[in-house]
Amino acid sequence: MLKIDNLQATVADKPILKGLSLEINPGEIHAIMGPNGAGKSTLGYTLGGRPGYEVTGGSVTFDGQDLFELEPHERAAAGLFLGFQYPVEIPGVSFVQFLREAANAQRKGRGEEPLSGGEFLKLAKEKAGLLRLDMDMLKRPVNVGFSGGEKKRAEMVQMGILDPKLAILDETDSGLDIDALRVCGEGINAIMRAPDKAVLLITHYQRLLDYVKPDFVHVLANGRIVKSGGPELAHQLEAEGYEAVAA
Ligand SMILES: Nc1ncnc2c1ncn2[C@@H]1O[C@H](COP(=O)(O)OP(=O)(O)OP(=O)(O)O)[C@@H](O)[C@H]1O
Ligand SMILES: [Mg+2]
Repeated sequence: MLKIDNLQATVADKPILKGLSLEINPGEIHAIMGPNGAGKSTLGYTLGGRPGYEVTGGSVTFDGQDLFELEPHERAAAGLFLGFQYPVEIPGVSFVQFLREAANAQRKGRGEEPLSGGEFLKLAKEKAGLLRLDMDMLKRPVNVGFSGGEKKRAEMVQMGILDPKLAILDETDSGLDIDALRVCGEGINAIMRAPDKAVLLITHYQRLLDYVKPDFVHVLANGRIVKSGGPELAHQLEAEGYEAVAA
């Protein structure tokens, strides 16, 4: 589904990704762990197409297509979802309106009919229920005044509505209380655990992986994958630290 080969990228002329390779097949859940500043968020932003993140080498294909030939909105319509480490607030734009516009823009990009108001509301209620997020929250401006945990849950509602093929989730577990961690974990499984979908989870801790069980765990350090293994690698990292395991 996603094939990253020797990817190199710079931010503000500073090399951050330095030859990163990773392959993700349909049905797989991959976790990426690694020290602060290693380039994990940079990987997500580069794949998502955030301005300022410049690809200087290597290649990425998504479903056999050159990812970098697609504009960010085309990547989204093709089924790529990026969950942010720090979700942005958009004052003046109601969350339901934002979600409906996003869903219908992506449907249009795929040549599908837009969802009617009724269809959209039913879908939004279903996904909000899954994430135990009060529908009243979604009547407010996007993320404005939301607590850290509410932003993360709202982001998972967004993922449920957009129904992507590949979700790259950047520290979705950060800031979640114990119950919200379980709700989000179960939500990710409900939305993304499918033979034709895949997830790349960026996380610092085992706790989310207790719910969303990864097939593969990778260590990203200094701009490349320095070690890969199964779920046991996350436990080993937590017990021994990066220096001991992936030096
Ligand atoms: N706009 C920028 N200008 C300069 N340096 C940047 C910029 N954005 C990111 N960097 C640098 O790129 C490096 C990688 O950052 P990145 O956010 O990808 O790390 P990370 O692995 O996600 O870390 P964390 O675990 O703390 O989230 C850091 O050293 C960071 O300071
Ligand atoms: Mg980060």
